Amino acid sequence: MKILLVGSGGREHAIAWKLARSRHVPNLIIAPGNAGTAALGENVPVKAMDLPGMVKLAKARGVDFVFVAPDDPLAAGMVDEMQKAGIMAFGPTAAAARIESSKVWAKQLMIRNGIPTARVDVFDNASAALSHIERAPEGSIVIKVDGLAQGKGVVVPATRQEAVAAVRSMMEELVFGNAGRRILVEERMSGPEVSVFAFVCGSFVSDEIAACDYKRVNDGDTGPNTGGMGAYSPPEFWTPELAARVRREVLEPVARAMVKEGCPFNGVLYAGLMLTSEGPRVVEFNCRLGDPEAQVILPRLESDLVDICLAMASGTLSKTAVRWGGDPHVGVVLASGGYPGKYPTGYLISGLAEAANDALIFHAGTKIGPGSEVLTNGGRVVMAVGSGKSVASARGSAYRSTAKIKFEGAHYRMDIAARSAASGSHSRQERAV
Ligand SMILES: Nc1ncnc2c1ncn2[C@@H]1O[C@H](COP(=O)(O)OP(=O)(O)O)[C@@H](O)[C@H]1O
Ligand SMILES: [Mg+2]
Repeated sequence: MKILLVGSGGREHAIAWKLARSRHVPNLIIAPGNAGTAALGENVPVKAMDLPGMVKLAKARGVDFVFVAPDDPLAAGMVDEMQKAGIMAFGPTAAAARIESSKVWAKQLMIRNGIPTARVDVFDNASAALSHIERAPEGSIVIKVDGLAQGKGVVVPATRQEAVAAVRSMMEELVFGNAGRRILVEERMSGPEVSVFAFVCGSFVSDEIAACDYKRVNDGDTGPNTGGMGAYSPPEFWTPELAARVRREVLEPVARAMVKEGCPFNGVLYAGLMLTSEGPRVVEFNCRLGDPEAQVILPRLESDLVDICLAMASGTLSKTAVRWGGDPHVGVVLASGGYPGKYPTGYLISGLAEAANDALIFHAGTKIGPGSEVLTNGGRVVMAVGSGKSVASARGSAYRSTAKIKFEGAHYRMDIAARSAASGSHSRQERAV
């Protein structure tokens, strides 16, 4: 079996690692990949957003299926293009990917179908948005651009002045391009956040799994936002009762709604939730695995990922086991000096082999140098993912491993999963199939 995996981050290294463990023993091609994926298959330098190039590669290599992991090519219709070319592909079509690529579309779908989420007003002109903001109490709203914005298109303003500045930069200066031509002004919710993932195939929703990630660059959730500095699974507050409620009120209704509205979802559905005093409410949906959450949940997937992909592609997922379990996992990201601002690359990374004694090492921004050495090549460089019988012991192995990895300017957070380890909860999320 031959599989083409699209992407180059830590998520893609984790997907490649899980695919490689399949009973089908697949030959993997990763485009464009990183130094970590190169050890599991063949990296081919086709960019993730090069749709014709990727179709050409899939055809030339005669792959059995393509796994499209990142949001941008999914939103651009890479799965549609593969299907048109007669190639099996894993992931939602562009129409289904709108659940992530248009926050307005996703919100309207939720409202039409009674899925719990924050109230919203949508604006396509700045003066109407500004006069709305004048009337809203300070600290009561969140402002979002409609389209994809690399995780930077949301502002949670503390003051009216900040809110006004956000609207002007989104709608007048178009700092997010066309993504900001329409904006959402949402009711501000509060409560802990959790990311919930399930394989969805039409109206069928597999067993789900939950993780928490850390967006801010510094300890104590301070400093600017990043792509994610760490993650752990399961969260200490994730009970079977809460999981059942999220399935009943969010995951199953949204899958059914997409079928009903003519754009059935096939792929990994990711619900970003806030656990408010009124119950779980949706912050957003994503149409793919999260990064860095994938790196802590895929090691907990006991089923064969190739079997799952084949079942999704043939519409038979309900007959295939999707079993999550496994020990708690905690992952810590090592980032380049300066990230998430400007940072230099090309530094030698040492200690990777020793670090692998304590944890799984997933590469993100890495490349292989002229002498086969591994060099830094991005903002987030590698993630050490530890496991153990409890979150506390998983955290211990993640940090023992992290401490062994060295490169110029490396930095990482010290408090990943600290609150969970301290809560003393050793609960494991295990559901009967
Ligand atoms: N309605 C809301 N109330 C409170 N916080 C919110 C709300 N919407 C978003 N946020 C905060 O902003 C973050 C980013 O918003 P999200 O919709 O997930 O956008 P994206 O991930 O595309 O940047 C969320 O993780 C959450 O912390
Ligand atoms: Mg989000």
